[in-house]
Amino acid sequence: MKKTRHFINLSDFEPAVLKSILQNAHELKKRKFNPPQIFNGLSLAMLFDKRSTRTRMSFEVAMKQLGGHTIVMNKEESQIGGSESIESTAKVMSRFVDAIMSRMSSHDALTELAKNSRIPVINGMTDKSHPCQIMADLLTIEEHLGSIEGKKIAWFGDSNNVSNTFVEAAPLFGFDLVLAVPEALHDKVPAGAHVTADPKEAAKDADVLVTDTWESMGQEGKSLDMFHPYQVNGDLMALAKDTAIFMHCLPIHEWEEVSEEVAKSKASVIYDEAENRLHAQKAILAWCLQDAGVEVQQDSFDF
Ligand code: CP
Ligand code: NVA
Repeated sequence: MKKTRHFINLSDFEPAVLKSILQNAHELKKRKFNPPQIFNGLSLAMLFDKRSTRTRMSFEVAMKQLGGHTIVMNKEESQIGGSESIESTAKVMSRFVDAIMSRMSSHDALTELAKNSRIPVINGMTDKSHPCQIMADLLTIEEHLGSIEGKKIAWFGDSNNVSNTFVEAAPLFGFDLVLAVPEALHDKVPAGAHVTADPKEAAKDADVLVTDTWESMGQEGKSLDMFHPYQVNGDLMALAKDTAIFMHCLPIHEWEEVSEEVAKSKASVIYDEAENRLHAQKAILAWCLQDAGVEVQQDSFDF
């Protein structure tokens, strides 16, 4: 039987497939003001059990610009927040729409949703990973610095869903990733990743400095003391390459994980990164919806 085109973990993919999705994202960005109506008649359901600005807006605008429709369900307002099982929800949603984007805290719950769904399920972030974010980040890096291969990406602060996904992406895209994370958290870092407790070592000659909140959603109130040496500030940026860029998936906790000076500097590409969620989302949706007849023409592609 044909496999449903879920987008759950980057590690589920061959590098060539992810690279072609990225190429399509570049292509669709070029057609920002002339979007091809490839999602005509198709619908996406979005299921949330956590807050979101970028993920919700980018999926909604992506579907609509390309001719499709969306329906948003917050967990507490739908039966899945009551007693309906994930299995039943997936089976019912499969009868109404063409794809599901889900932001569920539990990665196991997302996997269960996909297992029971006849239509593609997209990971809009779990406590374990955030693959759509990393596709947008790689798009942004390619735009600013060219090919991602061989670049040094330095991560600072917590070991979380976003850093986990950079760890998954590094061998697939061939970049060097160094995670500067407090020693006490090294056991949270996925096996095989290059981890250090020294932020200066990570920043040295880096092409990209990236961080995220020290307190992900659901972890509110934890002590942040151990993270202070990992703030991305002017001192750390000075150790990186002259061409280095600063990235953050947003939202920023002002001004904990990054100084205001760096977040607002010329090196900061955080709003390009946010916009690129839209273009990456279009390309991810197009890949997921191929069995519904969706195709992106690449004849003008020249990145
Ligand atoms: N970066 C990101 O996923 O943002 P939202 O939480 O606003 O969707
Ligand atoms: N690590 C953050 C990312 C938010 C987009 C969180 O999980 O809250």
